[in-house]
Amino acid sequence: MNIVSGPASKELAKSVSDSIGCRNVSVVLKVFPDGESYVRLEGDVLGEDVVIIQTTCPSMQDSKLFQLAFMVDAAKRAGACKVTAIVPYLAYSRQDKLFLSGEGISAETVVNMLDAVGVDNLVTVNIHSEQVLSKFSLPVKSVSAISLLADYFVAKGYKGAYALAPDKGALYIVEEAQQVLGGGVGYLNKVRDLYTGQVMQSGEGLNVKGETVIIFDDIISTGGTIVGATKILKDLGVKHVFVACVHPLLIGDAAERMLDAGVEEIIGTDSVPGPYSKVSLSPLISKHLKGAI
Ligand code: R5P
Repeated sequence: MNIVSGPASKELAKSVSDSIGCRNVSVVLKVFPDGESYVRLEGDVLGEDVVIIQTTCPSMQDSKLFQLAFMVDAAKRAGACKVTAIVPYLAYSRQDKLFLSGEGISAETVVNMLDAVGVDNLVTVNIHSEQVLSKFSLPVKSVSAISLLADYFVAKGYKGAYALAPDKGALYIVEEAQQVLGGGVGYLNKVRDLYTGQVMQSGEGLNVKGETVIIFDDIISTGGTIVGATKILKDLGVKHVFVACVHPLLIGDAAERMLDAGVEEIIGTDSVPGPYSKVSLSPLISKHLKGAI
């Protein structure tokens, strides 16, 4: 097996190659003055199974997607056998159904595009909604990083912390975290206006007074959901609030706003490399490639 280091996930790909002891193929990336990308694989992949690791997080997620497509095409043209794309953060995966008439389903468009260029298997991490996996045109697997995030807090001495989902859709996430943390579990009610984007949240029936609460979510984008949740938790008398997410997009001043609202620490994974990406996906991806999950 050959691991191709996509330009957006170089460090992660190197760590995975080292961990499973297989060859790492580096990639030359050039961006032309007009913004178009050029990629070239620096290694012979004729007759080899190839795994390309490339996240497609902001910023420039469209360019990262095209770079991925170009790397797949390059690998196939160079005679690679099976091509697996590991895309830790799969751009556009939140538009996974029709919310309003006249829309498209961007998540399916992205997968169709990767199918068309020759991806044989697609692996991602905590896709926004697992229900879409069966609708895709190629085999897509979503592996979960939640236990790695929970392990981080156990290592910091927060075994027994309460795992809170900011909405009911993330309940399965906190149930997974609870397996590691062993504390309480619950969720907030959240309704988003599809036209204005405005969010209404409430903590009805939640008994968390004096608790250490870790809010788990798949994605943090503007931080608005977490800021609202933190205010509710503070009103309910919680002792400490921490935040763990798989994909810390953290657009603009999202992190500062959450910290100002009273969050003590924010952690995410290197699906989105950055200052809060304290948990590496390398062990999870390595385990997957070894066939252990
Ligand atoms: C929504 O269902 C997701 O799980 C996140 O809660 C959402 O994307 C977070 O967005 P923001 O940080 O902008 O509130």
